[in-house]
Amino acid sequence: MYFKQFYLGCLAHASYLIGSDGEAAVVDPQRDVDQYIAEAEAEGMIIKYVIETHLHADFVSGHRGLAARTGAEIVFGANAGATFPHRAAREGEEIRVGKLVLRILETPGHTPESISVLVVDTEVSEEPLKVLTGDALFIGDVGRPDLVGSKGYTAQQMAGMLYDSLHGNLLKLNDAVEVYPAHGAGSLCGRNMSKEKSSTIGEQRKFNYALKEMPKEEFIRMMTTDLPEVPAYFMKDAEINRTGAAGIETLLRPARLTPEEVNQLAQAGHLILDARPAADFGNAHVPGALNIGLGGQFASWAGTLIPIGTPIVIVTEDEQCVDEAVTRLARVGLETVKGYLDGGMYEWDKAGLQSAAIPQMLADELLFQIQEGADLQIIDVRRPAEFKAGHVPGGFNIQLADLEKGISEFDKDRPTAVVTGPLHLMGDQAASGVRPSRPGSYGMVRVGLRGRPLTATAALVSGPASARPLAIDNPCPSDPVAAGKKGNPSAGLGWPSISLSMARKRSASSRVIGRRCSGSLPMASPRSAAAA
Ligand SMILES: [Fe+2]
Repeated sequence: MYFKQFYLGCLAHASYLIGSDGEAAVVDPQRDVDQYIAEAEAEGMIIKYVIETHLHADFVSGHRGLAARTGAEIVFGANAGATFPHRAAREGEEIRVGKLVLRILETPGHTPESISVLVVDTEVSEEPLKVLTGDALFIGDVGRPDLVGSKGYTAQQMAGMLYDSLHGNLLKLNDAVEVYPAHGAGSLCGRNMSKEKSSTIGEQRKFNYALKEMPKEEFIRMMTTDLPEVPAYFMKDAEINRTGAAGIETLLRPARLTPEEVNQLAQAGHLILDARPAADFGNAHVPGALNIGLGGQFASWAGTLIPIGTPIVIVTEDEQCVDEAVTRLARVGLETVKGYLDGGMYEWDKAGLQSAAIPQMLADELLFQIQEGADLQIIDVRRPAEFKAGHVPGGFNIQLADLEKGISEFDKDRPTAVVTGPLHLMGDQAASGVRPSRPGSYGMVRVGLRGRPLTATAALVSGPASARPLAIDNPCPSDPVAAGKKGNPSAGLGWPSISLSMARKRSASSRVIGRRCSGSLPMASPRSAAAA
């Protein structure tokens, strides 16, 4: 048997290529599918099936694109209601791949149509060796029951189904059966996933909190309490997957734009998405731009903060990063990148266009300012559970995904510090405030420190790649930076735009993150620079 897991850290997503005797199946492919085709070819296998464990909500799947390129049959759980030709698989149905038998288990709960796939290698045994559990069973967790793929059912009903799927089906398997889920730590399809990428039924029976013996009612209560937010794009992506997205290679490559063209498009309402490290963004950026650094979970934050269909212009460090950003955006259904700033901020400056900047400071400086009695409003944009676990005294918690709609609660005229990445507080330090366990392990943004309302912002952050730092950038109309003659006049109007980045503090490490992009996007020819 050939078996390989492909793990996409950006979306905490695992997909699989399984083969035998010159035949193969791909399970839960990501949207860009070249890697499966190349791997199958290298192994001398033909991809006969594309199996989807459910209608994914957190990414656009490559099932239709892969089927179009390989002639493979697409397999979904019978309740998916997919609108293209596919096999609607039921409990016990068997799919033959060489000498392998892939046996379908219906495991609803995360979504109504969820299936798991048992892998039997008939050359070894008639007993299953592995189970691909999709989002029914993760390592250390189970799938959340409240996503939009569950339309028509309450979260409580779905959690009840999940309990039955786990105890009536998956946990009936032998302890030695290996477990391979569709997601790992960081995915919003669960809330407490392990960093491990695989496990066994026996290990999960022992250590997974959700599999502990408990009455069904208690399980339902536990699974429907304190769930993380559901990003707005989840509903759209589940529907895209139901109808099937076109192959990523059919997307047009964005146009190469001059600074003047970018400026015009910004004024016309295009979103300027700056994918550089936050430290670089802080130094200088197109006024009004949104910053989501390419490092870390770029795609899921983009999906969370940018409505699908928004016309986008990208600013990056180089062209390779443009391709990487476009690919990652397409993976969550954002296909409307109209162009990119040719030559990046260097050309913007050279053209004499006004930039905005965000001076940055570290946690120690915030501590100093608090101790000195500075008049600061402190906004903590981490998730509620993170805030509860320890926060800066006097901080107000509003999680990042809700910040834009909740910004009216804050005083725009008051200097503001925004606490972003993880607070690594130890013991009772959490109660006393801001001393990090290691220098620079979290960061913040301050706004208006030069006495102007929400004019200057400061960032940022170091810490692990799981950090979710952010900056607020709202150049004020009265601010010469924002209202500069050549600047974007819309930048100072309305609410602050949100600037989010996974970058670290200004250092060599942040530049390394900026170079982490790799791969390229197979696209059609460049279109004209009109980018309308
Ligand atoms: Fe899912």
